[in-house]
Amino acid sequence: MLPKNELFIRRTYDLSRLGVQNVRSNPTVGSIIVKNNLILSEGYYKKYGGKHAEVNAFENIHRSQLTDNDKLNVTLYVSLEPCCIVGKTPACTDLIKQNSVTNVVIGSIDKTPKVDGNGVTILKNAGIKTLTNIEQIDGDQIAKTRNVFAIKQRPYITLKWAESANGFITSFGEQTIISNAFSKRLVHKWRSEHDAILIGTETARIDNPQLNNRHYFGPSPIRIVFDRTLKLPTSLHIFNDNHPTWVITESNKEYDIQHNEAITYIRFKFDVALLQNLTDYLYQKDIGRLFVEGGAKTHDAFIEAGLFDEVRIIKSNHMLKGGIKAPEIHHSPDLTIKMANDKVSFFYIS
Ligand SMILES: NC(=O)c1ccc[n+]([C@@H]2O[C@H](COP(=O)([O-])OP(=O)(O)OC[C@H]3O[C@@H](n4cnc5c(N)ncnc54)[C@H](OP(=O)(O)O)[C@@H]3O)[C@@H](O)[C@H]2O)c1
Repeated sequence: MLPKNELFIRRTYDLSRLGVQNVRSNPTVGSIIVKNNLILSEGYYKKYGGKHAEVNAFENIHRSQLTDNDKLNVTLYVSLEPCCIVGKTPACTDLIKQNSVTNVVIGSIDKTPKVDGNGVTILKNAGIKTLTNIEQIDGDQIAKTRNVFAIKQRPYITLKWAESANGFITSFGEQTIISNAFSKRLVHKWRSEHDAILIGTETARIDNPQLNNRHYFGPSPIRIVFDRTLKLPTSLHIFNDNHPTWVITESNKEYDIQHNEAITYIRFKFDVALLQNLTDYLYQKDIGRLFVEGGAKTHDAFIEAGLFDEVRIIKSNHMLKGGIKAPEIHHSPDLTIKMANDKVSFFYIS
């Protein structure tokens, strides 16, 4: 059995994951309040701009459970360092001080520049016993999407593709199904956990995907598609419902289409700076997580630019006779052998 700090901090990690579909560029955070080894209350960050996990944990305490004396003796566990800046909500360090918490146990440090250890310092200076980096590897893993956004000033980028046993993503020029019911649902879950989903022109044209989340609960991401000259047929699914689609184009024109109000035209030169300009734009728009679903040229462009944080590969045990080779990952500024294990996950299906 894990020691109690580790056990309780793990509960905050479980809680933090409940927010993953709705926090956008903010971190997922879970928090619990403990007294005499009993959990008095729990909270998590539910929604972008909403109350922080610690606030929800405090609000969920049944006040009848606490005498004044008790108040001096509670421990707050939180998956991520409490914020010390007044943003959309007040600083959590103030709340913790006001509630006479005696101990704070933290999973991971928030790398947002104005926080980054300052929350811990404020608590310690207020005389609150503060422990950091408990079960840190998992805590950092949960915090990483926010930390990439805060430090690199771009969304956390996940590349995902499915490949045959012999390494092809498709037969030439046609849609090839390399998935099963389980992996399809899993991919829809992943979609629900990202703010935007991006595909290349050829994938839009050949596969005609709906690019939404239909097989899991939760939201669908904003759809993003490259269409340099606006040559894609306007009959495609992505242009024919009211869900937002962002079209990356060089053209000053617009599609002649019924649901044009759902389409945002983002105009960039299609030069070497395209992906950097696009990810800068997505940062400005508070897109915290970007899910890239291919095809090969699109993945290659992100890999070549070193613009990715994680790769998820669905590997089938079926062979294809030929077609488009799956991307190879050999170039990334911070991809080391060790990180390759962390970053690249294979999901085997049969
Ligand atoms: N197995 C899987 O997981 C999976 C996933 C997705 C797709 N696919 C398959 O992959 C095939 C399409 O792959 P693909 O490699 O031929 O095409 P793609 O990556 O879908 O689209 C590539 C096209 O997008 C446009 N583009 C503009 N800027 C780009 C940039 N920075 N990066 C990438 N593309 C940019 C270019 O079109 P212009 O030159 O016209 O401007 C380029 O030729 C389809 O058959 C599809 O079924 C398989």
